[in-house]
Amino acid sequence: MAKYPVVVYGASGYTGMLVMDWLIDQDIPFTAVGRDAGRIKEMMAERVVRLESATYEIIEAEHDVDALVGAFTGATVVCNTVGPFSKFGPVAIEAALRAGCHHLDTTGEQGYVMAIREQFGQQYADAGLVLCPSLSYMHTIAQIAAELTLETPGIDSLETASICRGPREGSGVTIGSTASIFETFRHPQHHLWDNRLVEWGMTDHFEISVPELLRPALALPWGGTSLPVFYQDDSRVRFCSSLTSFYDNPAMRMVLLFIEQWEAELKHLPVEAQDAAIAQVVASTTPAMPPRERTTLNRSIDIAIGRGQLAGVRASVSSVAPYITTGALQTAAAMKLIEGETDAVGFTSGCKAFGHRYLLGFLEQRGLARASVGEL
Ligand SMILES: NC(=O)c1ccc[n+]([C@@H]2O[C@H](COP(=O)([O-])OP(=O)(O)OC[C@H]3O[C@@H](n4cnc5c(N)ncnc54)[C@H](OP(=O)(O)O)[C@@H]3O)[C@@H](O)[C@H]2O)c1
Repeated sequence: MAKYPVVVYGASGYTGMLVMDWLIDQDIPFTAVGRDAGRIKEMMAERVVRLESATYEIIEAEHDVDALVGAFTGATVVCNTVGPFSKFGPVAIEAALRAGCHHLDTTGEQGYVMAIREQFGQQYADAGLVLCPSLSYMHTIAQIAAELTLETPGIDSLETASICRGPREGSGVTIGSTASIFETFRHPQHHLWDNRLVEWGMTDHFEISVPELLRPALALPWGGTSLPVFYQDDSRVRFCSSLTSFYDNPAMRMVLLFIEQWEAELKHLPVEAQDAAIAQVVASTTPAMPPRERTTLNRSIDIAIGRGQLAGVRASVSSVAPYITTGALQTAAAMKLIEGETDAVGFTSGCKAFGHRYLLGFLEQRGLARASVGEL
């Protein structure tokens, strides 16, 4: 049973530990939960900043619903960082619901986001609890940009792009992220077209140019992202498409090659053979946990173009250190939930539950993001 208001699930992982950094910064006591208490202790000692001033406990629990209910009960909010979420998410969500906790996670895996809306959205709403996926750099920053354009009346059509520095330029991607990225290729990917989710082709790709960068970037739908799902039932928005790129075209071409290979050779294989193919690509591209991000290397630009019948607005958010930013977003939301402050319950985006201006302000005040908005 948790003694403290915030549970960090996936406490031995790169992102879980960054959530703890920010909780400690805000002096919020937390319960670190994971499948191996020894590993959690060792990783926290190595990676978590200011641990000596933290109030926390560690609970070891198997990844199964009953064990996690036992670990989560007593807390107010679970910050879940155990991914890929298509594989592991639903067990923790069911456990958080049974334990009476809000559930925040860090993924924009679209198939998962659609599935949990269907399976758990109403139950969370009935319990007065928040079920908020994708409260992470991807795709909350792009959604903040989208919401800035929606402040102009008449905007009903959104195109977003997230462009991050690539792994070949020293921008580390974690084991969990690589596994989650490749997991998305198993699922259809959608954009929102006239209020309906419509499938992208699995190998669709686009060259995009943005004024903040000199060279065009190869961008992919990246599984579709959470944004078309968040806006599907939003009366303001009829169209939403969302693209993702590393500013590193050779790396993006390798991802595209893998998707083409998946479509041609792997998608008809048994699940075990697919699992082995994904495990191999994860092991070969991400052998170990990367070092802590540096603001000099890890820089991103997220853009939203909002259009209406005549209105046009472009918003861009420059940000640094996407994983550190993810920890900050989780903490900003946990602070609100501890105080019982939320504008939505049930399945919701972070921007809807906590306000895009609040989340942006939290990041701006900590030097993590800066937004600019202009008419088109
Ligand atoms: N969209 C974004 O901007 C964004 C940003 C940050 C993170 N994320 C997502 O967050 C997730 C975690 O990322 P990460 O960087 O923290 O990865 P990571 O460093 O690889 O950590 C993964 C965590 O999950 C745990 N885990 C893995 N398999 C498990 C299982 N079968 N049962 C229980 N626990 C298990 C690991 O525990 P062990 O140590 O015991 O293996 C570890 O604590 C990924 O899905 C990633 O895509 C997304």
